[in-house]
Amino acid sequence: MAQKTESSHFEKRVFKPGAAFSKAARIKSMADYHKLHAESIKSPEKFWAREAAELTWQQKWTKVMEWKVPFAKWFLGGKLNISENCVDRHALNPARKNKAAIIFEGEPGDTRTLTYQQLHREVCKAANMLKANGVKAKDRVIIYMPMVPEAVIAMLACARLGAVHSVIFGGFSANAIFDRINDSGATHVITADGGWRRAKIVALKDNVDSALKMGTTTVKRVIVLKRTGQEISMLEGRDTWWHDEIAKVTADCPAKGLDSEHPLFILYTSGSTGKPKGILHTTGGYAVQTYVTSKYIFDLRDDDIYWCTADVGWVTGHSYITYGPLLNGATVLMYEGAPDTPHMGRFWEIVEKYQATILYTAPTAIRAFIKWGDEHVRKYNLSSLRLLGSVGEPINPEAWMWYHRMIGNERCPIVDTWWQTETGAILISPLPGATPAKPGTATLPFFGVDAAIVDESGKEVPKGAQGRLVIRKPWPSMLRTLWGDKQRYADVYWKEYKKLGYYLTGDGAKRDKDGYFWIIGRLDDVLNVSGHRLGTAEVESALVSHPAVAEAAVVGRPDEIKGQGVVAFVTVKTGQQASQELAKALKAHVTKEIGAIARPDDIRFTTALPKTRSGKIMRRLLKEICTGGEVKGDTTTLEDFSVVAALAQSGKEED
Ligand code: WTA
Repeated sequence: MAQKTESSHFEKRVFKPGAAFSKAARIKSMADYHKLHAESIKSPEKFWAREAAELTWQQKWTKVMEWKVPFAKWFLGGKLNISENCVDRHALNPARKNKAAIIFEGEPGDTRTLTYQQLHREVCKAANMLKANGVKAKDRVIIYMPMVPEAVIAMLACARLGAVHSVIFGGFSANAIFDRINDSGATHVITADGGWRRAKIVALKDNVDSALKMGTTTVKRVIVLKRTGQEISMLEGRDTWWHDEIAKVTADCPAKGLDSEHPLFILYTSGSTGKPKGILHTTGGYAVQTYVTSKYIFDLRDDDIYWCTADVGWVTGHSYITYGPLLNGATVLMYEGAPDTPHMGRFWEIVEKYQATILYTAPTAIRAFIKWGDEHVRKYNLSSLRLLGSVGEPINPEAWMWYHRMIGNERCPIVDTWWQTETGAILISPLPGATPAKPGTATLPFFGVDAAIVDESGKEVPKGAQGRLVIRKPWPSMLRTLWGDKQRYADVYWKEYKKLGYYLTGDGAKRDKDGYFWIIGRLDDVLNVSGHRLGTAEVESALVSHPAVAEAAVVGRPDEIKGQGVVAFVTVKTGQQASQELAKALKAHVTKEIGAIARPDDIRFTTALPKTRSGKIMRRLLKEICTGGEVKGDTTTLEDFSVVAALAQSGKEED
């Protein structure tokens, strides 16, 4: 990879945390941050051990860390139960037991609140239910559920027994379920009859039935929660109702102390090949790091109403709906449905109704809100909010500014958190009371995180130059392996810098004069135009900063002269017209924003972009469309295939 200093300019606007916020925050200044960060890098084991001591261990560790590249172990010899730490610790604390652990709102408007004491009871009963149905430690349990409290309860119940959960996002198809069941060798599936999404039923149980008909599997039992109440089929001897099973058991289920390295969950994520990778996380290190990051980055306080809008089917839902916040004894708001149902102001209505104080969401959602129009936000009082978060992709400065202005009322710090399914917890992020934010950067590494931007040889690139983002030292919540495939684990993440023992994130990045990390995007999303490196995200950000554009995705296509040409897929805002004039204006706009090098060769207007169900644009499919080829490869993570079909068709018509 070349390390030319990019001509691109860094964002200049800086937003310092308000004095009142800083005063009340755990980390109050950059001096505090730098001091603690330097200490944590010098002696990571000391830092992590001090933080780990805040959790409940049934047996203390004897050694903090062991590192035999690429395999790490944390808190060796320690025994703990993450479910005990998430639930019992607060349920047994007189000051916390009657505090709301989960406040739930269903899409149809039904609501439920579970205090820590009630959550404790439900988790114990669910664990006993699983035990009665044959679940043992280390068995793999698939959780394929809507965003209802039982999804979290099921995760915590598995963890209580030492069973390994593998949550599958409710938007996945039968195909994906079948593959994941087979790869993990799961014996049990916990699902629901259905879930609500855009006022329609997502037929979860039907999908499980179809998956289990695709071939023989290891599944012995399917436990079904009644949510939507429509007719479903139940297979005698295999399927059973959650409510029937739960009625048979007691709420007495002491949490078993598990080895710190006991497997906690497998979460499948897509790689560069068609076959998803089963990311394995274990107990102790994951518990410590999700706890610590939630504490400092969301600066959780006892009176917070914390809302992360992710789905539990993604890693954000694991680490920052379930484990991190509950380890901190926080009140977690959980919403089942879509942000535009029954109206486009639903999120803001929920913020006002429950007086949410922290909102953690994704840039793709923010861009949708911008597209829908400010009037949907203005109807509601958002003054309860004190902190905002962003995750999942680089946030373009325009979206950041809108979030800051419209949602945060120019008052709430924004934490742009960089991390991955593999990292288990946030690794790069501002600390809200300390770090001056700049729109579009995740800023600086968290405590104990040794992040760097390097070239092929592992040498740090100069400031301003683009390189590969690596993590140079192991961290507690890192993935331990890929389920059933140690070799692929070693190859994908560690082969590149084997001697140095660096973890390859797969992301390209650069640092500005303040040392802030600017994530360019996945390295496979980086184009090479006339010998210049160009992040697709940079061009997209430029396009989206044009007032007519709602969303943009940029891909490369082979070009005889330049190596790669730039093709931009663009959706326009409501009320705007896609036209030749606009295409011309957009090309000029990108030239103005970044330079002629980034000027798109082709602008294709579309009504929608192909996205994964977690909201990531599937550039691979766009690339296939651009090169005139068939859309091949894995499309199981695609939200709506008709988008691709329409794009491919319009491409053919143009040709
Ligand atoms: C991207 C989601 C820029 C990045 C937690 C990473 C981001 C991938 C950010 C992981 C951010 C995530 N800024 N890019 N704040 N957060 N990414 O596994 O490319 O679904 O490698 O984990 O998302 O996606 P994953």
